[in-house]
Order: sequence, then C-alpha cells, then structure tokens
Amino acid sequence: MSRHLLSAGDLTRDDAILILDTAAELARLADRPIKKLPTLRGRTVVNLFYEDSTRTRTSFEAAAKRLSADVINFSAKGSSVSKGESLKDTALTLEAMGADGVVIRHEASGAPHRLAGWIRGSVVNAGDGTHEHPTQALLDAFTIRRHLGSLDGRRVTIAGDVLHSRVARSNVLLLKTLGAEVTLVAPPTLLPVGVGSWPCEFSYDFDAVLPKSDVVMMLRVQRERMNASYFPNAREYSRRYGLDALRMAALPEHAIVMHPGPMNRGMEIAADVADSVRSVIVEQVANGVSVRMAVLYLLLGGSESAIGGAPPAGAEASADTAGWAAPPLGPDEGEGAVVDNGLRRRRTDLEALDISAVPEEAL
Ligand code: NCD
Repeated sequence: MSRHLLSAGDLTRDDAILILDTAAELARLADRPIKKLPTLRGRTVVNLFYEDSTRTRTSFEAAAKRLSADVINFSAKGSSVSKGESLKDTALTLEAMGADGVVIRHEASGAPHRLAGWIRGSVVNAGDGTHEHPTQALLDAFTIRRHLGSLDGRRVTIAGDVLHSRVARSNVLLLKTLGAEVTLVAPPTLLPVGVGSWPCEFSYDFDAVLPKSDVVMMLRVQRERMNASYFPNAREYSRRYGLDALRMAALPEHAIVMHPGPMNRGMEIAADVADSVRSVIVEQVANGVSVRMAVLYLLLGGSESAIGGAPPAGAEASADTAGWAAPPLGPDEGEGAVVDNGLRRRRTDLEALDISAVPEEAL
C-alpha cells in the first residue's frame, strides 16, 4: 500500500476503521476552547485546488491548522496556471517549497494519481473529476456510524446524479468495505455504463427503495459537468427523484438524510427536508474536519516512517510499516483498539496524544 490516499478502494476494512476511530478521538477536540494540537508542527500541507470548492478546501485547511501544520493554499485561479503552467511544474514548485503533504482537487479524473508519481510527499485526493472523493466517503461513513452504530448490514440509498458523482463512487467502494448494502437510484441517463458490475444494487424507482433505507444520501445535479440533456426539465426531475417531505415520510423512523453539499434546494432536495431533524447535513461538515485531521495525522504524523520512510529505531522494516496496511484487528476491534503491528507506533502516538493530556499552554 502507498503513503497516499488516492482512492477509497485502496483502504482495507482495518485501515478505514483505524481512520474512523482516530477521527472519533480527534473529534473530542471540538469541545475544547482551543481546538488545536501540536502534532504536525513543522510540517507543511499544500491545498492545491483547481476547481471551485467551499467546504472541502476550508475543511482541509481547518484540519491541518488544528494539528499545527503550516498551510499553503493554492488555487489555480490567479496563479501561473492561467499562464499555461502544467500540473507537474506547479507541483514541483510547491514541493521545492517543502510540502510534506499535498491535498489536490482537480477537474481531471486521475490527476492525484499522476501527482503521486511526481512528488515525494503524501498526496490526498480531495476530488478528481467524476472519479473519486475518498475523504468525503470517510466523513459520510463516520457520520452514519455516529447515528446508527456499525455499518454492517446497513442499507444506504444514494440518489441523484450518480453519473457525474465522485462522491457516489467513493461511497460505493468504502461502504461495501465496511459491510453496508448500497443501492444507487437515478434515471437511466444518470447512471454510468457498467454500473451493473459495481459492488452495489441500482434502481430507477426511488419510491420503492425508500422504505427499506437506513440512510438516504442525496446527490447534487451537476449541471457544470453536463454536456447534453439528461432529463426533460428540473420540475420533472424533482417529481421523480427529489426528496420532499412526502418521500421522507416513507423512510423508517430511524433513517437519516445526508447530502455532501452544495445543495440545489428545490431540485434534488426540498428546503424543509434539508432543514429537518432527520437531516445530518451540517454535522457532515463538522465531521469532515475530524476525519481529515485523522487522515493528515496518519499520513504525516510522528516520524518519517509514518509517510513511508525509514521505520523507527528497533522496529522491523516491513511493507506494513510503510503505509495504511494493517493485519486484522482482534476481537475487540472498534473504538480504542490497539493494532498490533507497524501501525501500533502511530496508535501509541495517538494515546500519547490523548488530547485531554495536552496542556493548552503548550500551543
Ligand atoms: C461534492 C464534490 O465536490 O464532489 N461536494 C463536496 O466535496 N462537498 C459534491 C458536489 O459537488 O456536488
């Protein structure tokens, strides 16, 4: 396994659980008056954003800053990209400035994978084209776990513009890894060719699926990526695939409503549904910071070996110490479990990093 987070599909169940447990630990910081830890002091994280973004960019920035990393925000608009500079040259320039981690959002699917081959630091995919958005899937899993406990056997319905959604792709992969059953719902024009081979079910009938859903995750209709007409008009789309109060009433009592944002209120989701007690949309944003802190901590934290360099003194060099890979957790897997392998050091760091033990004066 690599030192990067490029695809939700690269995470084993143990990797994903480690990230979610670490995020749960770090979420406790949010209750403190000073929401900061010294863990990544001296490290530099570059936010390399080639696409417009509100929550993902600010979320990564908040996550890195709460871990005391130095943050460089780069957005393609107003940079040398408009003078024709290539991604590779931009990346090498930023690396020369000492980036330990690069968080990249790019309109081209696969851009983070290319970047990972060019630079020495860790690369985190913050959304590439219509391909993947692994930290969104992790924050979604974290949010579901907080509300419904384990993801095992949970039925998650993802409805909307699946064709253009990197959120859907990453969620299908991660939720499957974590044991949930995913059903994609969209008009036939907004489901990708080959969806039948994905590890999930799919349906064109939203109303039939709702009563069997523990979670319903709505996706934005991504007009900026549409180069043709995919449905007759907005009203027709909302009538068949929008989540309104009537449809929400068909959900089981315990079901939650999610949306990665930004929302088109009145299109895929009615305003009263977005603001209802079942909606966890604002919580998703808060959880995003904790999950991204966990990802940055596990990739960049501690010593060089945490990002795939030399193992710590006394530790055996093995593939396991270099990346996310971890052997199966013991029977007491879950919150607080200590992984008995190369990741133990990082887990131990986390214990040493018991946030209640870090005096706020230390910051
Ligand atoms: C999503 C994205 O950019 O892929 N939003 C996000 O990251 N919060 C979904 C979208 O743009 O609709």
